[in-house]
Amino acid sequence: MAEENQEIIDKYTKVCICKAINKSTMKKIIKDGADTLEKVQKATSAGSGSCGGRRCTPRILELLEECKQD
Ligand code: FES
Repeated sequence: MAEENQEIIDKYTKVCICKAINKSTMKKIIKDGADTLEKVQKATSAGSGSCGGRRCTPRILELLEECKQD
């Protein structure tokens, strides 16, 4: 149940605001093998928005760390 709730929250949590990429998409991409910032950015286009990745890069790095611990 808690996991389902987390999934719903993740769908509504934007990681890259410029490109409208949510946390659940990011997690899936990381689990599918994008294990570096560059790979995640390439797979999602996160970081190529108007802020140039200023807002989402720290969040992607955090997520990569979180997913490594799982
Ligand atoms: S928030 Fe990701 S490029 Fe701006």
